[in-house]
Amino acid sequence: MKKIAVFTSGGDSPGMNACIRAVVRTGVYHNLEVVGIMHGYDGMMKNEFIPLDAKSVANIIQRGGTILKTARSKEFMTIEGRKKALENIHKHEIDGIVAIGGDGTFKGALEFSKICNIPMIGCPGTIDNDLRGTDFTIGYDTAINTVVDAVDKIRDTAESHDRLFFVEVMGRDAGLIALRAGIGVGAESILMPETKTDIEDLIKRLESGRKNKSSKIIIVAEGDEAGGAFIIAEQVKKRLPDYDARVTVLGHIQRGGNPSAMDRVNSSRIGFAAVEALIKGEKNVMIGIVDKNIKYTPFANAVKHIQELNPDLIRMVDILSM
Ligand code: F6P
Repeated sequence: MKKIAVFTSGGDSPGMNACIRAVVRTGVYHNLEVVGIMHGYDGMMKNEFIPLDAKSVANIIQRGGTILKTARSKEFMTIEGRKKALENIHKHEIDGIVAIGGDGTFKGALEFSKICNIPMIGCPGTIDNDLRGTDFTIGYDTAINTVVDAVDKIRDTAESHDRLFFVEVMGRDAGLIALRAGIGVGAESILMPETKTDIEDLIKRLESGRKNKSSKIIIVAEGDEAGGAFIIAEQVKKRLPDYDARVTVLGHIQRGGNPSAMDRVNSSRIGFAAVEALIKGEKNVMIGIVDKNIKYTPFANAVKHIQELNPDLIRMVDILSM
């Protein structure tokens, strides 16, 4: 192995830069030439390859976003697109590829591996934490901290006005941000795609708990099957008109910001392990951290969700939110 490429793809997540830095510096340490591919699979097809060295990744470990930019590519999902990408990979004489991204990135990598023999290693970069084979994805911890910080502020005003707030958090297919952040802010209820949302039950809970608390926070994952926070709030308002209800959608604020210490450390470990996995001859696996240890999971298994939520946590939420 002489030359490797690294790229980021899909939604950005805090810690991607720390991971890029680890990949580049581990590559340089092992005397590999390292190039970056800008804009993910799009840049692979459009030949956006740039040289990287130890200096080009200085002072990025603490920065959110990704210096390599990112994209969600429709063209790469076509065989013509993947063939274009392969031509460029060959043109640049790449011997190994590190892909940093989420579910869509690894599904793309799986398809690519059908026409491309060059080994690919994945680093789980998504705030959603919806990949199998790792306890925490890059950016998840920072996103949760961002949500907790924002909802603490909402709680102050909710408490002052005796209001009910519906706060929508990210997670198209997964409620893990909602669950963990919801526990962290002491939410009265957490609505997620993995659990059935029963509006009647929510109304009952709101009615029965009304005397005890002046403010109430309901965390809604954007992918909840009952609709987004606005739709659910409308239904509740109709049934409980004396509640002074408001909706806040946190949106892309959750994807930005400086990575937490945990994300910086995990990203560094994962990027480091990715390059060493390539050198060892591994291919088409995602690097994860499970029970504090590095674990390899084939792409095909990493993207098989939906994950089961921990039932102990769900039970605990119900008891603690009374
Ligand atoms: O996959 C990460 C994520 O932030 C999801 O939580 C969210 O549903 C989606 O990306 C939003 O994507 P976009 O930035 O393309 O609107």
